[in-house]
Amino acid sequence: MWSFPLLPDRASTVAGDVDAIYYVLTLISLVFGGIIVAGLVYSAIRYRKGSKNSRVGAVHEHLGLEIAWSLIPLGISIGIFVWSSKVFIDMHVAPKNAMEVYVVGKQWMWKIQHPQGNREINTLHVPVGKPVKLIMTSQDVIHSFYIPAFRIKQDVLPGRYTTQWFEATAPGEYHLFCAEYCGTSHSGMIGKVVVMEAGEDEQWLSGAVGGFTMETTGQLLFQQFGCQTCHKQESGQRGPSLDGLFGSEVKLTNGKAVVADQEYVRESILNPSAKVVAGYEVLMPAYRTQLNQEQVNQLVEYVKQLGGNKRKEG
Ligand code: CUA
Repeated sequence: MWSFPLLPDRASTVAGDVDAIYYVLTLISLVFGGIIVAGLVYSAIRYRKGSKNSRVGAVHEHLGLEIAWSLIPLGISIGIFVWSSKVFIDMHVAPKNAMEVYVVGKQWMWKIQHPQGNREINTLHVPVGKPVKLIMTSQDVIHSFYIPAFRIKQDVLPGRYTTQWFEATAPGEYHLFCAEYCGTSHSGMIGKVVVMEAGEDEQWLSGAVGGFTMETTGQLLFQQFGCQTCHKQESGQRGPSLDGLFGSEVKLTNGKAVVADQEYVRESILNPSAKVVAGYEVLMPAYRTQLNQEQVNQLVEYVKQLGGNKRKEG
């Protein structure tokens, strides 16, 4: 059979949509490019200097033609914009039931941790047919998490979380690249994504992690750094209670309100003075230099579960 692979095999639910947009854009460019080049070449030869072909009746202005070549491309552009925006939004808004995986980019490796505790370097194990949401940040410079077979690529930035989700459609191994030049060994910042068969993933996730889920590790860090000294459950402490914090709305001293999402928790650990809860002063030291990104992720996982948000212990 005739085979001319321009792109790697599609292995995620969004891959078909991404390819369709890409092919349609290429096709439109070829069609219009072809029409323009053909007209150009034809006119250049037929009406070249010294040719005897008649120039009588040459058109200098044609309102209908001008309106047509303005409105038709406008319509096509808007159509593509609407279509690709829809695909873009689908690709970036993860389904509620997506399983989460934390990714930390670091010169020059990908450090991955699953909430169940499993850690990996330059390898990402995911189940087939289930949505997976990546919560990513960088320990140093800008990296970009790129899985060509899934048609997803997302910058990974220091100082904030970025997210990306996908659902793999076929078991197997796929390339993982860093797609943003990040220093000497950028080209070595590669790995693989292992898409496991249905059922295999639960076994894999329950594999040797010594009972240390991210939440447990986060709890140990919470105690180690003495966070509970100020963030006790009772109110009236030096710091606000964290029970039931995650996902709730927090009023700030500047009169604004924010939803306590993972970005908020992360920022509040690393830079407590950025968003101060109404009624409190900034007494908390910034933990920027004391925690690495993986530890911050573990603390975020711990805070997420506090106060009956889900999986509350005991
Ligand atoms: Cu990391 Cu390039």
